[in-house]
Amino acid sequence: MPAHFTFNHCTRDFHFCKKNMQETINWLLNRFKLRSYNVSVVLLNDPDIAKYNKNYRHRQGPTNVLSFPFSQPVELTDNTIQIKELGDILISIDTAAREADKDNKTLQLRLTELLIHGFLHLLGHDHEKSEKEAWAMWNLEKKLIKKMKSTRSNTMTQLAINVDHVATIREARGISEPDPVLAAGICELAGASGIVVHLREDRRHIQDRDVQLLKQTVKSKLNLEMATSKEIIKIALDLNPDMVTLVPEKRQELTTEGGLDIISNEKKIRKTIEKMSKANIPVSIFIDPDAEQIEAAVDVGATFVELHTGCYCDAVTEKDRNKEFHLIESSAELAFDSGLRVNAGHGLDYLTTSRVAALDTIEELSIGHAIITRAVFVGLDQAVREMLDIIYSS
Ligand code: PXP
Repeated sequence: MPAHFTFNHCTRDFHFCKKNMQETINWLLNRFKLRSYNVSVVLLNDPDIAKYNKNYRHRQGPTNVLSFPFSQPVELTDNTIQIKELGDILISIDTAAREADKDNKTLQLRLTELLIHGFLHLLGHDHEKSEKEAWAMWNLEKKLIKKMKSTRSNTMTQLAINVDHVATIREARGISEPDPVLAAGICELAGASGIVVHLREDRRHIQDRDVQLLKQTVKSKLNLEMATSKEIIKIALDLNPDMVTLVPEKRQELTTEGGLDIISNEKKIRKTIEKMSKANIPVSIFIDPDAEQIEAAVDVGATFVELHTGCYCDAVTEKDRNKEFHLIESSAELAFDSGLRVNAGHGLDYLTTSRVAALDTIEELSIGHAIITRAVFVGLDQAVREMLDIIYSS
């Protein structure tokens, strides 16, 4: 429970902001590796914050935010739990609302900004110390706000479901069932925010008919996985999906085995991205969590990268799994800081997903096999909902 909230004398009902503020505090504590700390947030009105402003800062009138750090983080023991207190942040809802209106932004965003400002004060930053400190604090604040705006703290990690595996079962019989188009509809009804299909050159599972029907029926977002072959590029341009993900393709593989090597395929990839960009189709590239590949993805003009989570999921020992996870974590951070939007997937299941879903730099997870496998036993609707529960509670 990293943030304790008190709503003092608020004349309006601001409880709707509480979840967002709680997420902001969680995100900040995670980011600064202060997960075991608690922050107390007090929301009050202008007359009340004016009293604190007068008593503690000898200033007249209300202000937007006041921070009271504990000089030494206090440790309280509540039976078995040790809670370390970082300090108190007081925010005037009246002033926040006025400032939000003046700057034409949502109250939620203004509260996020003020929380970040107050939190940095708790960490010892002080813009009143010197001009240099003021600049440093302002820059850090700007950076954090930018990150907050485009990360899961404000928008939950999304789940896109790969329905290739349904087509694989159909193709095993060579008949028309089960239909991946129907499966996509069920996934969407259960809460999936995207459908992914890989139209392979060998058409081993998804067929041309599937992508055509999915284009007409998918209401959320259709992500077409594809190789950079002439034939498939033409199909993608004609189809106009919501996005494409470039993946490597080998005839002998059972599934996509590793990330696309952008460096060795730079020319082809760059050309494909140019064509997609002209058609306004955002491009993601499926890559291994590797700094050079991330740099290359920026260079060729990708909008997204999808980080390959296969090695993390396949790791046998805890040590290896942790190592692979930290590689994903740092790569996601690097990609995000480089201006890329970050997705992840491959091999994720009901045990391995939550840790990846908790990364605030990752927008969307692409999961197929685990969900379709579970659906055999519990039904597709339930399998999707169970995975969403894991993602949303991470
Ligand atoms: N992302 C990419 C690029 C893939 O090729 C696949 C597998 O088709 C997935 C994600 C989903 O992997 P899984 O089926 O193991 O969940």
